[in-house]
Amino acid sequence: MMAEVLEALQPRPGGRWVDGTIGGGGHAEALLRASSPNGWLFGSDRDGAAVEAAGKRLAPFAGRYEIRRANFSELADWIEKDSCDGVLLDLGVSSPQLDEPERGFSFQQDGPLDMRMDTRQSLTAADLVNGLGESELARILSDLGEEPQARRFARAIVRERQLHRLETTGQLARLIERLAPRHGKKRHPATRVFQAVRATVNNESNSLSSGLAAALSILKPGGRMATITFHSGEDRIVKAFGREKSRDYTFEGSVDVPALRQPCEQELRWVQRKAIQPSAEEVAANPRARSAQLRVMEKIRRRE
Ligand SMILES: C[S@@+](CC[C@H](N)C(=O)[O-])C[C@H]1O[C@@H](n2cnc3c(N)ncnc32)[C@H](O)[C@@H]1O
Repeated sequence: MMAEVLEALQPRPGGRWVDGTIGGGGHAEALLRASSPNGWLFGSDRDGAAVEAAGKRLAPFAGRYEIRRANFSELADWIEKDSCDGVLLDLGVSSPQLDEPERGFSFQQDGPLDMRMDTRQSLTAADLVNGLGESELARILSDLGEEPQARRFARAIVRERQLHRLETTGQLARLIERLAPRHGKKRHPATRVFQAVRATVNNESNSLSSGLAAALSILKPGGRMATITFHSGEDRIVKAFGREKSRDYTFEGSVDVPALRQPCEQELRWVQRKAIQPSAEEVAANPRARSAQLRVMEKIRRRE
């Protein structure tokens, strides 16, 4: 969604842009190119291999960027408050992460059950799949994977690991495939299970909530935040954040009772109400983009 991101963030010379999920550096390069000759880019990724790849790709722009290996939830720890014109968070996994079997993200190729974006962390997918209790496993599959057969799959995983430890992506994918044969369906039956385990290993929901708050704090008034999500759980977090920060009132608890509202300052506005989807051509060229949803918000300019 390159064109759509550039349209949303409107990079221009002299501005300061942030790519919190720099990956291979594709969006970052486009932001630097479009803000030539003197736009600045801060980039981060929790994956050391991504930081290295992005550094190589951005070498021609030396002197115009700073990249750190960091979680985007920490953006406000190293970037000045109210100082940036645009922030991009392009969530999910990168193609190199999926394509390298040894990273353990893919059910298409056999590799260790790993799934750590930051390999300095010790918790792996194998630790979770072999260590969590059945009900906790079912809760994760249901909440983070929206897997309709969460309880059945959790029970089967626990039964299987009593026979032998699950060590590889292939073992987990084949187990789920035995329980829910594909019958010609396009989507692999283990898609949701892998998504849920990955989100848990990488603490993705909490990172996203803190990352959105950090992004809002480093934006200038009038600066924009673009998020690309790949499943409804992530998109719900972005929508809830946008809804809360674009209201000019707060309320206690989970029910909005108009009589009990407390006024507050609105912090952002939606640039458009509906999420932007990738074009049919993009999905045809890159099927992984099919579930992408781009949302754009703008930090409110205050009247002096
Ligand atoms: C879809 S890829 C980004 C691709 C990138 N936009 C490009 O143009 O190449 C997502 C990247 O976000 C990184 N990531 C995911 N969650 C993160 C987090 N909480 N903090 C920092 N990086 C994160 C992943 O490691 C991965 O490299």
